[in-house]
Amino acid sequence: MSNRTFTMIKPDAMKNGHAGAILDKIIKSGFKIVALKQTKLSTEKAGEFYEVHKERPFYGELTKFMSSGLIIAAILEKENAVADFRTLIGATDPAKADEGTIRKLFATSLGENAVHGSDSDENAKIEGDFFFSGLERF
Ligand code: CMP
Repeated sequence: MSNRTFTMIKPDAMKNGHAGAILDKIIKSGFKIVALKQTKLSTEKAGEFYEVHKERPFYGELTKFMSSGLIIAAILEKENAVADFRTLIGATDPAKADEGTIRKLFATSLGENAVHGSDSDENAKIEGDFFFSGLERF
């Protein structure tokens, strides 16, 4: 089991001014920030990141939304990082997310759900490598 996961604070949360509160909650929940950057994805880059969802009906909407504004990308470290982070952010659909989770607190809809969290150790590595070079993380 790896001790790292990858997250993005999505354009909705950035525009709504929730980035600081979300990072605070992540840190207070015991995650160490290994790497962090603010950036903006092109539609092409968003499409590449979400390649696994290419055949899904929401792929176009997802890549358009994810390239619609600034994001924060980060690699996080904690024991059992992937599973614990998914617990912290809550269900993909904020309407189904538990009380106190990041999506319950800050997300607006299934598509615009404030944060991304890797779903496996393997994807955490792939996604972290997508945004950060070896020189940018420790
Ligand atoms: P994320 O964890 O970033 O991974 C894939 C994203 O696709 C997911 O969060 C949602 O924001 C989005 N998504 C999943 N299902 C739908 C849907 N039915 N309609 C729109 N977006 C969706």
